[in-house]
Amino acid sequence: MNIDEMRRTVAERAAALVEPGMQVGLGTGRTAALVVDAIARKKMKLVAVATSEATAQQARAGGIRLVALDEVRALDLCIDGADEFDPHLDLIKGLGGALLREKLVAQAAQRFVVIVDEEKRVRQLGEKAPLPVEVVPFGWTHTRERLRYLGLDPVLRERAGNPVLTDGGNYVLDCRAQVPIASLADAIKRTTGVVEHGLFLRMAHTVLVGTPSGLEELHRPRT
Ligand code: A5P
Repeated sequence: MNIDEMRRTVAERAAALVEPGMQVGLGTGRTAALVVDAIARKKMKLVAVATSEATAQQARAGGIRLVALDEVRALDLCIDGADEFDPHLDLIKGLGGALLREKLVAQAAQRFVVIVDEEKRVRQLGEKAPLPVEVVPFGWTHTRERLRYLGLDPVLRERAGNPVLTDGGNYVLDCRAQVPIASLADAIKRTTGVVEHGLFLRMAHTVLVGTPSGLEELHRPRT
């Protein structure tokens, strides 16, 4: 299987988990977009919450009924991609810039299913992808210095020379570290100016991995 086939395989498997009447969180990114398409093709009655404006637009175009996260008490299921996953099913997310809404929606779900291809597998988070940290624009260089003090190497995400803005109007600092980056999760979160980081720890219930030889399903043991 090539990468497109791997993504399609996990997307179809994830879409098969969606049943009529469910309240579903819809992720962001290339793999999640395939799930949105697959769900739209089913033409079933359901209610969905989108994790980004891009996904909302796609879902609406596909005839999926969207509601705000505040309109639901809990979601049955959230399906989203990731940028890295480790053997504990911990994740780095946010290369698409939607990490804050993605985390809010995933936390509201009874089951969080992550869809990835084999290339996202790492032994330790941060091995391949930088960690996106969403910060408020006000005083962001000071926030960057505080993150540096924690041992991170933060780089402002830019496009065409301008800071990339998240759906919430914030900036993203892509961070690398010399130490295991997941160990800094709490310290990053406590830093003034930080809105959220892309470490999704102990959140995924299932990770569906597209591999060259087929689909692999990984489940987090219940604790
Ligand atoms: C969006 O902010 C990210 O968290 C995506 O879920 C992640 O980047 C995966 O996207 P792809 O499926 O496009 O790799």
